[in-house]
Amino acid sequence: MIHSYAGLVPRGIRIAVIAGAALVVALIVAIAVAVLAPTGSTTPTPSPSTTPSASATPTPRPTPTPTPSFNKALYSLDDASSLWVVVNKTRPLNPVNYAPAHAALNLPGGGQMRPEAAAALQKMFADYQAQTGDHFTVVSPYRSYNTQVSVYNGWVAKLGKAQADRQSARPGYSEHQTGLAVDVNTAVSQSFGATAPGTWIAANSWQYGFIVRYPDGLEPVTGYEYEPWHLRFIGPELATEMHTTGIKTLEQFFGLPDAPDYLN
Ligand code: DAL
Ligand code: ZN
Repeated sequence: MIHSYAGLVPRGIRIAVIAGAALVVALIVAIAVAVLAPTGSTTPTPSPSTTPSASATPTPRPTPTPTPSFNKALYSLDDASSLWVVVNKTRPLNPVNYAPAHAALNLPGGGQMRPEAAAALQKMFADYQAQTGDHFTVVSPYRSYNTQVSVYNGWVAKLGKAQADRQSARPGYSEHQTGLAVDVNTAVSQSFGATAPGTWIAANSWQYGFIVRYPDGLEPVTGYEYEPWHLRFIGPELATEMHTTGIKTLEQFFGLPDAPDYLN
């Protein structure tokens, strides 16, 4: 006779044993899952190769703000009455005895210039005096053809033709005859460039529409030695553009041939 062993155990205890065993099995399964599961986050980590490195990513450059290009053809370079007329040893005034409308300068030293140049010069002199307590003097503004004959011949008599041509224009070839050029201050010497007024002129005259027309070291371009006192009025727009671009001569700015010497 087969005895049921179960029959020897009370029913309540049997249920408790079965439940306990089930609990132990569930616990073992849970532990096994935890141990065998991949460590770390179950969220896939992007592999480094798919993450662009900082160095491989081009740095975005700021988009340049388009600026309207400067119109170099706004005024004539040839017309003697043009604000931008370029006069040099290869570009005489046309006609050679051209005379502009000119206005009296209400400044120490006096003389005349074209009205727009006179107004700009008066403003520059006033600002310089207000800023420094010092004042500029007009040495030589507008010169007629006949005045330039005297000036040039005087230098030739003093220095000889070759040296005179390095610092004084022949009649019909001088910017002074346009009414747009002026020599400033009483200390007309090349050392003026290193003086306080000369430094101020070099740094600020562009704001009033002037350039130092014969810069240091550019005689092969302009045909003249350094003249830190000789200012040429070209208007604030062009003077600002030349200041911004750092181009010092009208020949270089407008792409004209160098003018180291006369053609004849
Ligand atoms: N000194 C300048 C070049 C002139 O005579 O016009
Ligand atoms: Zn001059």
